[in-house]
Amino acid sequence: MKDTLFVNIGRIVGILPQGVRKLCGKDMGKVETLDNAYLLVKRGKIASFGPMSDVDEQNSRAVFLKKNDAESIQVVDLSGKMLLPAFCDAHTHIVYAGDRQQEFVDKINGLSYEEIAKRGGGILNSADLLHSTSEDELFRQASGRLEEMISQGTLTMEIKSGYGLRTEDELKMLRVIRRLKEKYPVTIKSTFLGAHAVGREYAGRQDEYVDLVCNEMIPAVASGNLADFVDVFCDEGFFTVEQTDRILKAGMKYGMRPKIHANELAVSGGVQVGVKYNAVSVDHLERTTDVEMEVLRNSDTMPLMLPGASFFLGMPYGRAKDYVRAGLPVALASDCNPGSSPSCDMRFVMALGCIKMRLTPEESFNACTINAACAMGCEDVAGSVTVGKKAAFIVTNKVMELGFIPYFHHTPFIDRVFA
Ligand code: NIG
Ligand code: FE
Repeated sequence: MKDTLFVNIGRIVGILPQGVRKLCGKDMGKVETLDNAYLLVKRGKIASFGPMSDVDEQNSRAVFLKKNDAESIQVVDLSGKMLLPAFCDAHTHIVYAGDRQQEFVDKINGLSYEEIAKRGGGILNSADLLHSTSEDELFRQASGRLEEMISQGTLTMEIKSGYGLRTEDELKMLRVIRRLKEKYPVTIKSTFLGAHAVGREYAGRQDEYVDLVCNEMIPAVASGNLADFVDVFCDEGFFTVEQTDRILKAGMKYGMRPKIHANELAVSGGVQVGVKYNAVSVDHLERTTDVEMEVLRNSDTMPLMLPGASFFLGMPYGRAKDYVRAGLPVALASDCNPGSSPSCDMRFVMALGCIKMRLTPEESFNACTINAACAMGCEDVAGSVTVGKKAAFIVTNKVMELGFIPYFHHTPFIDRVFA
């Protein structure tokens, strides 16, 4: 982005002081705002912001600009509109091939996610499709989804592998993520999820597949420097706690911090193994007890819930409100994927946070911004309007109460995004 002075901002929303990594408990209910403001972006970062009167006090905007020594600065008049930090989406699977429309109909007709997986559909269906799709075509499809995310105001995101389930195909997915990082002006973190399901060739030989993940896939991913995080689907019918333990240790040896899929289908022990290895986040949490909540307290692991998956699969929603009441932080993400959550719209996620999880608009907003940034190690660059962070904003079409965004959850509200 060219150095830019935004003037006549009706309201800046989501201001945080420097150094705040995440919001917990009661603090999640607060969102700081500033009316009638300016904001200066230099070298892609927020250089300063404050009341418009600061600009006027210099007598004229021209003087202000001169003081900031920039003939090159462009001035953008937001004419009273509202500026928010862009959404952060800390859990997505947007690199996949084709779709799983037949399974959508199977679900309508009564089959569960587990039953579809047991019949050899689900993740394995996506793995077959990905295997027969070229890297360029995969990149083309994923680009379309990323562009949709950007248009919906998400400018920081995590993307996982996990539809390869063969070394070459996992690497193919991760190379596509790298190409997305290179092409788009957004912040992307990549996660190696070789242990998303047991590849077809290894049916009935789950431990051998875990060996493949640890001894072949992880070293290959690391040697290409292709992943920031290592993830495992630690759940009933997928990977056990012991297998998860091995895989996380293997990834950590190469500097990949853990993230976990846990407690979606059963109380799996995934939260405990994630916290043991200081996971950046433990994700899903549709089925948790108070024990998991206590394990997460005092850890540096972010509880991350995925209400889009609960919505699509008809599962219970994570107990976000209980976490907030207990003084814990909570983050929300889309889980965008063709099997359990075919939407990447973080505004919809924010709305589900309010409507289904009983978070206030402020709590849900913080769960989709600063806490979501923290759930992918991006809290120093994203998730709030803070001096020094990257300039990644949503400009709304008018000044509105924050609650309008999840309340009228399909009324267009974005005027434009700045990345
Ligand atoms: O996060 N739960 C596991 N993985 C994905 C679903 C992947 C799929 O069904 O394709 C999830 O929900
Ligand atoms: Fe997922």
